[in-house]
Amino acid sequence: MKLIVCDSYDEMSKKAAEIVSDVINENPSAILGLATGSTPEGMYKELVEAYKDGKLDFSKVSTVNLDEYVGIDPSNPQSYQSFMNENLFDRVNINKENTHLPKEIGSLEESVKAYDKLLAEIGQRDLQLLGIGPNGHIAFNEPDEKLNMHTSIIDLKDETIEANSRFFDSKDDVPKQAMSMGMADIFNSKTLLVLASGKNKHKAVEKFMHTDKIETLFPMSFINLHPNCYLIVDKDAYQG
Ligand code: F6R
Repeated sequence: MKLIVCDSYDEMSKKAAEIVSDVINENPSAILGLATGSTPEGMYKELVEAYKDGKLDFSKVSTVNLDEYVGIDPSNPQSYQSFMNENLFDRVNINKENTHLPKEIGSLEESVKAYDKLLAEIGQRDLQLLGIGPNGHIAFNEPDEKLNMHTSIIDLKDETIEANSRFFDSKDDVPKQAMSMGMADIFNSKTLLVLASGKNKHKAVEKFMHTDKIETLFPMSFINLHPNCYLIVDKDAYQG
């Protein structure tokens, strides 16, 4: 694992955008696994700027996202679909038909199967972006006795609902479930790019730095298994 400690959130975002840009410039048809949340917002801004400056072309890029809330329409401003549209898809020349998020089609079981089928068809990604939860979750694979290999419906932990309530009017409005890519599919990527920013991630980052165990109760620990993983953290996440 390559650890990069940055002085600030901006520096972390720039560094992350550089890595993503290199992947796209080396392979204009790159397949990217994307994440939502506060952490990658700065990185997406950098990518949009690079596109506007003529340094990046998304026309042949495909994307798959890690997760989406259950019970929220894609057009809802709080959906991860809306997040991706606002932060990236509507701002660059990506073909939206090549962008994919988990979505509800029929029953939840059918929806899960459909996303797994899509992921199997898309195959290995060139890069998978990940944030981490304060409890060490990756995508919505929450700490648990077992983790899922493939797409599944996850009951969000109370701490995740609490952490995500900042995007909603109240904690009660936060969906209680999400559809999330599983661990095997997350790892089916040539490169993992994991970002952590802010003091509320320090406990997880510190635990990660000081453990040599792989624990399902700490999903972030699994990134140690990937042969080509970057962990980029800012000072607040690193030092607390
Ligand atoms: C989002 C996702 C989540 C977030 C994590 C951190 O697609 O998969 O695992 O990466 O909850 O969220 P932020 O960046 O908002 O702190």
